Amino acid sequence: MEYDVIVIGSGPGGYTGAIRCAQLGLKTAIIEKYPTLGGTCLNVGCIPSKAMLDSSEHFYNAAHTFAEHGIQLADLKVDLNQMVVRKQGVVDQTTKGVAFLMKKNKIDEIHGVGSFVDPHTIKISKADGSEQTITGKNIVIATGSKPLSFPSMPIDKKRVITSTEALTLEQVPKHLIIIGAGVIGAELGSVYARLGAKVSFVEFADAMIPTMDRTMGKELQKAIKKLGADFYFNHKVTSVENKGEEVVVNIDTPKGQQMTLTGDYCLVSVGRRPYTDGLNLEAAGLSADSRGKIDVDNHLRTKVPHIYALGDVIRGAMLAHKAEEEGVFIAETIVGQKPHINYKLIPNVVYTWPEVAAVGYTEEELKQEGIPYKTGSFPFKALGRARASMDIDGLVKVLAHKETDELLGVHIIGPRAADMIAEAVVAMEFRASAEDVSRMSHAHPTYTEAFKEACLAATDNRSINM
Ligand code: FAD
Ligand code: NAI
Repeated sequence: MEYDVIVIGSGPGGYTGAIRCAQLGLKTAIIEKYPTLGGTCLNVGCIPSKAMLDSSEHFYNAAHTFAEHGIQLADLKVDLNQMVVRKQGVVDQTTKGVAFLMKKNKIDEIHGVGSFVDPHTIKISKADGSEQTITGKNIVIATGSKPLSFPSMPIDKKRVITSTEALTLEQVPKHLIIIGAGVIGAELGSVYARLGAKVSFVEFADAMIPTMDRTMGKELQKAIKKLGADFYFNHKVTSVENKGEEVVVNIDTPKGQQMTLTGDYCLVSVGRRPYTDGLNLEAAGLSADSRGKIDVDNHLRTKVPHIYALGDVIRGAMLAHKAEEEGVFIAETIVGQKPHINYKLIPNVVYTWPEVAAVGYTEEELKQEGIPYKTGSFPFKALGRARASMDIDGLVKVLAHKETDELLGVHIIGPRAADMIAEAVVAMEFRASAEDVSRMSHAHPTYTEAFKEACLAATDNRSINM
């Protein structure tokens, strides 16, 4: 065999796994069908969306809060083209960084579509029409996911778009209709609402980000409503029509009536599907399940023991940091180590403003599983740091075991929640109680004091500042 490990797909799972393989002394190749490395996350996901979120947040603050801070600006304008250029610069720098890491770790980088010839042989079909065949002792399938769509809402990439097109629009929409008020809807809806678009959310469920703790969705809705957005919950889209400059979305209301929304763009963000197109799984003796996922065991092995899979293409949260942990896990498993991933403690973040971040059980899950719990919460408006920065929306909600006081879930909506959640992950990995956290010194004034206060509230209602 030419390689110890062949990784198919260079997203956060694939490239991180390849680096860990190389660190462990395994001769490694990585195959990527696109010209740049980094997968969905670096090219059209995490990184560009955060770049657009930051730019639009700066504009929104300049327009709405700078005057109160005593900063006067005149003739404020959005230059969407420059925002997209800056975003692309960030993406290019980041993907080049991954290419550098491949060279540094002596990983062979091959561009083209990888497909199985047999369980150990991969054919790479390149953009120039040529083909290359390589063999590996171990194969890692890290082919990620693509946006989900339904026949009733055909994507034309011009007016009816996915997150990929929404990151490169040439004009701020006048009216952006978003189907699905999940993570992508919330983040990209925020971007364009801040830049002045009218945004309407049409959502099947009865709340925003419905799989997270319900308190978070309610608070997030209040924050996004302040940007002027409309919400149509429990509404079902029956069809979407591109009428040239306009998009017409036909909807069934909860009362069984029909309504229509007309906008200039429609963003379809109803989830993502695992991507195995072109892999020729059958040649390896594999197949995707009815939902398109590749089945793996607790060691991330497929039913062919030397073929592993990770990230968005397998079960579990479709998150970059989950895929990264799995890349490392597979590399260490291949060399005979005994790695472990605590799936219950993978944090989940929505990068709106305020940000939403969570780890562990939701209150709904605790109820469903009959686990006795108590709660403590603390609003950011009662925090000096939040008042100083005028970021007073949101709260920290802590769920602890009723008898043992062990932290079971932490849910934050507020300023810098994405960074704050790391403290909760560490505490929960070490199985801290709410009282443990409440007895640790938190610097004053910081947003993290809200976590300490929520833990105090969960420990015999001992919050000091509420
Ligand atoms: P991917 O990143 O999807 O990479 C798979 C790679 O495999 C792709 O480059 C693909 O071209 C390649 N490939 C596929 N088939 C083949 C083949 N046959 N041959 C060769 N190459 C192939 N997650 C977060 O944790 N935080 C965020 O803030 C975040 N923001 C997001 C924003 C958006 C708009 C989107 C769409 C997603 C976001 N995600 C975020 C999700 C995150 O991008 C994914 O969970 C992550 O990229 C999954 O990593 P992966 O390695 O499994 O696959
Ligand atoms: P999602 O699963 O977060 O949300 C989809 C929403 O669409 C749900 O609320 C669902 O109820 C709704 N929906 C489904 N079918 C519908 C229909 N026919 N009509 C109306 N509503 C419908 O999926 P989303 O937002 O597309 O994102 C895909 C994945 O990408 C996420 O699950 C997440 O894993 C990842 N992601 C992560 C981010 C982060 O970590 N910050 C940011 C963006 C994406």
